[in-house]
Amino acid sequence: MKLKLMVIREDKVELESFEYQQQVIGEKPVVLDVLLQYQENQNKDYAYRYGCRNGLCGVCTVEVNGKPKLACKCRVGEGDTITPLSTLPVLSDLVVSRQAVSKQLVEKLPVPQGTGQDNNADNTDYQRLNRCIECYACLHECPMHEKNDLTNRQADYLYGNPYSLLRIQRNLVDANATEEVKEKSLKLARDLGIEACRDCKGCRCGVGINLKKDVIRPLLFRLPNGEPDKSIEKEY
Ligand code: SF4
Ligand code: SF4
Ligand code: FES
Repeated sequence: MKLKLMVIREDKVELESFEYQQQVIGEKPVVLDVLLQYQENQNKDYAYRYGCRNGLCGVCTVEVNGKPKLACKCRVGEGDTITPLSTLPVLSDLVVSRQAVSKQLVEKLPVPQGTGQDNNADNTDYQRLNRCIECYACLHECPMHEKNDLTNRQADYLYGNPYSLLRIQRNLVDANATEEVKEKSLKLARDLGIEACRDCKGCRCGVGINLKKDVIRPLLFRLPNGEPDKSIEKEY
C-alpha cells in the first residue's frame, strides 16, 4: 500500500512516498501504524505525537487527504496523503504548536470552584461537553479561527475557535460555577469574537459533540442582543 507523508524541516517541505508493508493479510492499518513503520524503516527522525493509542488523549490529530483525523483511529488506504494540521503552526513534520490556543484560556477563563455542587449528579449538559478530548479537529474551516496568524509560532491568537467556546460554555453549565465565574466566561466569549458565529453555518467535532446545539447556540442566546441569526437556527 503506497501512501504519501509530509516531511517539514527548517530547510525542506516535501511529500515523501512510502510503501506500507501489511503486518497480516488483509490488514487495514490506521495512520499511526503507518507512521510507526515509516519511522522504523525509512525516516528515523520523523516527528509526530501520540499518547493513549485509543482515541482518548487527542494529541495525535493529523490531516488525511486534507481532513483532520485521529492518527490512532483513522484507517488509511492506497494513495492517501498524511499531513500536519493546517490550522496550527508546524514545529516539525506532523508536530504542531498548540500553545496559542491554550494561551487563549490560561489565566483568562476562570476556574469554577466553591459552590459545593456535585458535577457528576445528573448534569447531562456538563457531561456532554466533558467528552472533549482536545484534539483540535474542530478548528478546521472555522472562519473565526482563520482570522489568526496561523503560520506564526510566536503569535498570540486574538480570535477564538469551537474548542475555546466549548470550554467557556462548560463553565456556564458547571454546577460549581458562581455567577461571577459565568459572567467572566461569557465576557471571554465576546472578546474572542463569538459574534462571528451568527453568520457561520456551524462547526463540527471530531468525537461527535454537537457543537452547534450544545455550545454555539446557548452562548449566542446569552448575548445582550439576543437570538442567533435565522440561518444558524435552521442548522440545529
Ligand atoms: S460557529 Fe463559530 S466557532 Fe463554529 S466554526 Fe463557525 S465561527 Fe467557528
Ligand atoms: S470540541 Fe471536539 S473536535 Fe474540538 S477539541 Fe474537543 S473533541 Fe476535539
Ligand atoms: S493517541 Fe490518544 S487520541 Fe490518538
